[in-house]
Amino acid sequence: MAKASTHLTQLDEWRALLEHQASMANVHMRELFNQDPQRFQRFFTEAAGISLDYSKNLITDDTMDLLMALARRCELPQRIEAMFRGDTINVTENRPALHVALRNLSDDAIEVDGQNIMPDVRETLARMEEFVWRIRSTQWRGFSNKPFTDVVSIGIGGSFLGPKLVSASLKPYWHGQLNCHYVANIDGSHITEVLRHINPETTLFLIQSKSFRTQETLENTKVAREWFLHNGGSEEQIGKHFVAVTAKPQAAIDFGIAEENIFPMWDWVGGRYSLWSAIGLPTALTIGMDNFRSLLSGAHSMDRHFRNTPLEQNLPVILALLGVWYGNFWGSDAHAILPYDHYLRGLPAHLQQLDMESNGKCVTQHGDPVDYQTGPIIWGGAGANGQHAYHQLLHQGTCLSPADFIIPLQTHNPVANHHAILFANCLSQTQALMQGKTEAEARTELEALGLPPEEVNRLARHKVIPGNKPSNTLLFDRATPRTVGALIALYEHKTYAQGVIWDVDSFDQWGVELGKQLGEGILQRLQSPTTPGSGSDSSTDGLIALFRSRHHN
Ligand code: F6P
Repeated sequence: MAKASTHLTQLDEWRALLEHQASMANVHMRELFNQDPQRFQRFFTEAAGISLDYSKNLITDDTMDLLMALARRCELPQRIEAMFRGDTINVTENRPALHVALRNLSDDAIEVDGQNIMPDVRETLARMEEFVWRIRSTQWRGFSNKPFTDVVSIGIGGSFLGPKLVSASLKPYWHGQLNCHYVANIDGSHITEVLRHINPETTLFLIQSKSFRTQETLENTKVAREWFLHNGGSEEQIGKHFVAVTAKPQAAIDFGIAEENIFPMWDWVGGRYSLWSAIGLPTALTIGMDNFRSLLSGAHSMDRHFRNTPLEQNLPVILALLGVWYGNFWGSDAHAILPYDHYLRGLPAHLQQLDMESNGKCVTQHGDPVDYQTGPIIWGGAGANGQHAYHQLLHQGTCLSPADFIIPLQTHNPVANHHAILFANCLSQTQALMQGKTEAEARTELEALGLPPEEVNRLARHKVIPGNKPSNTLLFDRATPRTVGALIALYEHKTYAQGVIWDVDSFDQWGVELGKQLGEGILQRLQSPTTPGSGSDSSTDGLIALFRSRHHN
């Protein structure tokens, strides 16, 4: 049950944080580091193979105490328990959010409506195991009896970003003979480019859609089917080449997928939390089921940490509260995700959906408008590349975007001195963001170059870097299935913990529906000359008219 609505900004704990922020407004992190040689140890913690250094934040012990007090006042420990217990925490869709059940490797039962769901979860994992084994061992072959060489996953949103991230993150674990492709966009160029490089005889299509009514996925599936039928395949052979994952099996059957080729998922799994379910099949096919189970076990150890660890040492809670601190008390409305790992370059895109679809909300779970900021803009990209692009704004821009720097201690590919250089780049960025460069330091540097005083005067202020910009550093030994599982689960729980503080439903996404509804009417008006082209606002009418007059194919 949702807790009774207490106005967040009226809480004593909130007011105490406002006052505390005022006292911190002129403090520089340089001073905090100078005053306390133990600051790194003080603000460093580890769990489930992930280490977090959060010492380069605008915080003191008092800050963390006040944030923890706010979390307790918002009943975060009780709400964490409510999620694991299977309470109806998705209040607008009237269901629990039980992605933790998908990686529950304990013997504990988890109930929905009085039914233990773990037997279904385990049975599906066993079916996945068998399917993956049959494909990888070449028992299950294409229509001309050749082993599969390519898997094409068709899906979008959570039925795309999570599996794609995990597949890419674990590339070193891929099966040598099986390539994996993802088609998501309704832009025909996406599927065209994928189909161009594959052979229908040796391609397996996975149709991934929880609802099985997502326009992009269904349209792309029709194209894949037609392509298959026009390139040697037949209706009878579709069963060998098309497999679906969905919570709506009848819709998949009606669409033409054989019943025995349908893997289940459930209403209690949110799309953006579904990579642990059979939606993870493309990943499991490429990395193998043992590795997929290791991914689950990494997530499970983060789950146990989130559930059982006091808030003060709880990694997802610490990250969540730091986000609240900057978003609600320092005026920040963005957060950067900067993986210093080529294989993890898809992490910002996945976390964009996870976080922004979950916490991009403007009413509380009771429907009251909020008067405080909720989820931030999530952005980012791979380091070190970003250093030569958008880091300039982090260092000298006027907006405050805290950043998570994420880096493994070991690389899968020890090439020359690359990993030490990459690591040095990562640390130098967090250090530069924290300490900045004073005008005096800038002047000293310019004078050392032998520049005349007027040049020193002219350039010095441009070279000042304010510093005091917060960052977290997340480390792990290597991007293995376990650590990748733990890392993604860490961000899932961070997102939920923030949603609890902001009192929003982190598991619905009504905001995306309006565009879908309007899109249907617009499509009709674009395509049917008998439908009136006008009737809405002048901008939309004008653009529809433009399309009608100039679009030719
Ligand atoms: O439009 C948003 C959304 O509903 C996401 O939440 C979801 O991950 C995505 O669409 C795909 O939905 P489905 O798996 O039902 O095709």
